[in-house]
Amino acid sequence: MEKTKSSNTVWHNAAITKRDREKRFGQRGVVLWFTGLSGSGKSTVANAVENRLFEMGYHTYVLDGDNVRHGLNSDLGFSETDRTENIRRLSELVHLFTDAGLIVLSAFISPYRKDRENARKLLNTGDFFEVFCRCDISECEKRDPKGLYNKARAGEIPEFTGISSSYEKPENPEIIINTDKDRVEKCAEKIIAHLKKEGVLNRNI
Ligand code: ADX
Repeated sequence: MEKTKSSNTVWHNAAITKRDREKRFGQRGVVLWFTGLSGSGKSTVANAVENRLFEMGYHTYVLDGDNVRHGLNSDLGFSETDRTENIRRLSELVHLFTDAGLIVLSAFISPYRKDRENARKLLNTGDFFEVFCRCDISECEKRDPKGLYNKARAGEIPEFTGISSSYEKPENPEIIINTDKDRVEKCAEKIIAHLKKEGVLNRNI
């Protein structure tokens, strides 16, 4: 285990395991890790997929980057160090939620490959589905749902992803959705089909 500041602590094994919870829920505890530029549709598609899964009776939770930055990560900004710390904490959170047997849909820009790979490593093999929301920056800028690109171009937001801060595209994502070409429902359908194929939605687990 990693070295921590709190040295006099002992790990307790839970009486109820991830497997027990998965059997109870009739699903696997996994994460759909959405990554992509701001405005690329991460939250929109994550919510559409959650709606579909919820209607089908599955146990889900959406973790949204903007929302988490209002609470748990309100002490972090957008420097490289802060983004890495943001994703480190969120990776641990995702680990806990998947351990609880949930299908987690996380929507963080998560611009750095190394941070996403560290998140993957925390989970069991096969429990991490990287979903690349592929969308040309010109389309994100055209949409500009929060008016942030406008501000970033005007120099009012420093270190803005895609403009003055880097985004490293996934090299081998489990799922790619083309959010600048396909409608939300089509993207959601592609993801659900993938989960079915991978046995995540297996009632007789
Ligand atoms: S991450 O890079 O650390 O993964 P995160 O997903 O938590 O980012 O937050 C991104 C959201 O914060 C964006 O969708 C946008 O609404 C807002 N935001 C504010 N400032 C910035 C910035 N400099 N770069 C990117 N997003 C920003």
